[in-house]
Amino acid sequence: MKNRKHVLVTGGAGYIGAHTVVELLNAGYEVTAIDTLERSEQKIIEGVKTITGKTFGFHKIDCLNKVAMNQLFSTQQFDSVIHFAAYKSVNESVEKPLMYYHNNVGSLITLLEVMKQHKVRDLIFSSSCTVYGQPDRIPVDESAPFKRAESPYGASKQLCERILEDMTTEGIRVVSLRYFNPIGAHPTGLIGELPIGVPNNLVPYVTQTAAGVRAQLTVFGSDYNTPDGSCLRDFIHVCDVASAHVNAIQFLEEQASASVFKTYNLGTGIGVSVLELVKKFIAVTGVPLNYKIGARRPGDVEKVYANPEKIVKELGWRYQYDLGQSLQHAWQWEKKVRGLA
Ligand code: UD1
Repeated sequence: MKNRKHVLVTGGAGYIGAHTVVELLNAGYEVTAIDTLERSEQKIIEGVKTITGKTFGFHKIDCLNKVAMNQLFSTQQFDSVIHFAAYKSVNESVEKPLMYYHNNVGSLITLLEVMKQHKVRDLIFSSSCTVYGQPDRIPVDESAPFKRAESPYGASKQLCERILEDMTTEGIRVVSLRYFNPIGAHPTGLIGELPIGVPNNLVPYVTQTAAGVRAQLTVFGSDYNTPDGSCLRDFIHVCDVASAHVNAIQFLEEQASASVFKTYNLGTGIGVSVLELVKKFIAVTGVPLNYKIGARRPGDVEKVYANPEKIVKELGWRYQYDLGQSLQHAWQWEKKVRGLA
């Protein structure tokens, strides 16, 4: 008799996916990961194996490929699925909306069809605080209404959540985790984020500037209605994001009900400004950072941070790493990638 639960992780070579595979293996789960490796690298899979000292199945499969997905589900029995596979660039989604809807919504639909066919019912979905837009009240809690999404990326996450909520009538049980701003890297320095080309996100831009790959960081906007004029965000260590997926799976395992749709904010509850983060990076790493204040970036939300009470109370999750540790780990990873470590 099989005694370990078997989890399928789509997008398992991606930034949050790979850190989650580590947490699952450490928690004793059997894991199979799939990824196209279109925006991630095989070496991340090797890093996960080195960190955990454990092996797991990895297949280069596109979640949109129903034939390949059906074949996978025919040969393996999964107890649950964690669905990360998606595109995540806000800017790119504005330029290529169809590509975003096709990939992000299409892959979820294909996955749900295959899950249904093979009677796999438990799903953890990778959602985002972007579903809220600029909320009326912060810290924002899960009852806040969805505002019109600022980008096709945001709209794709809203749409996916709606699809999942509707799917509860078809026996799919869902936990949707709304990530705030995941940053950092594994403390071992063996896995981390690998942005393609010029990073859009703040922390990879900071670490690349510190490493001399980029000449200067621009802080987008200093005239926001915030204490220091720069945007406020809720930065959370990627390992803390990853560990919440284990709590979410265990939660679903404990549910007797045939129908579950739960959404949880996944943030620390601490609002940190862009300028505060920049200063913290300099303070904890001792590395100088060339930065300037620039114009606002179109589409940016002024301030958003989580009320994480629900996930703490219902899933028993807590974050472990503070901002300084997150930035140190991000820097350690950048140095490794650039051969500076
Ligand atoms: C956004 C989405 C998030 C999504 C993520 C994916 C919101 C509120 N958040 O995060 O859900 O998962 O994109 O990429 O919609 N900044 C600079 N200089 C830079 C880069 C960024 O000042 O070079 C500032 C931005 O203006 C922003 C903050 O840093 O205020 C964070 O930016 P970023 O890391 O891109 O994440 P979000 O835009 O918050």
